[in-house]
Amino acid sequence: MTSTVFILNGPNLNLLGTREVEIYGSTSLADIGVMAKASAEALGLAVDFRQSNHEGELVDWIQEARGKADAIIINAAAYSHTSIAILDALQTFEGPIVEVHLSNIFKRESFRHHSHISGVADGVICGLGAQGYVLALTAVADKLKNLG
Ligand code: DQA
Repeated sequence: MTSTVFILNGPNLNLLGTREVEIYGSTSLADIGVMAKASAEALGLAVDFRQSNHEGELVDWIQEARGKADAIIINAAAYSHTSIAILDALQTFEGPIVEVHLSNIFKRESFRHHSHISGVADGVICGLGAQGYVLALTAVADKLKNLG
């Protein structure tokens, strides 16, 4: 059976391509979604690619993933640095979790250096732009193969 990966994106990532292009690049979130779907297909995975500006909606989606997804890739954006609710939700998920950031959060302001999500993620990819999502999918495919 094909494994499903939820790719969840947090606040302001809907503005990618027009938002702080020097930091986040000119690729839109829709383009990243297309890239992720193509990579997932090549890896034999199905993806459900979503974005929300609302913390509670992200929590709802992580809870939904418990019944529907085999792995989660998450760029919680600014909520990475603030949200215990998202951390708690991720702690209830049993499959692999990979955290992604487009920018290198360690090269930026000190308030971005800590992510609550890193403590529960199996791996963290940051600073590699849109390619980070493709790398995360490759890692998840490998992890699921080893689990299955
Ligand atoms: C981000 C980094 C966060 O610090 C920031 O709040 C974002 C995007 C990234 O992908 O580089 O919105 O998660």
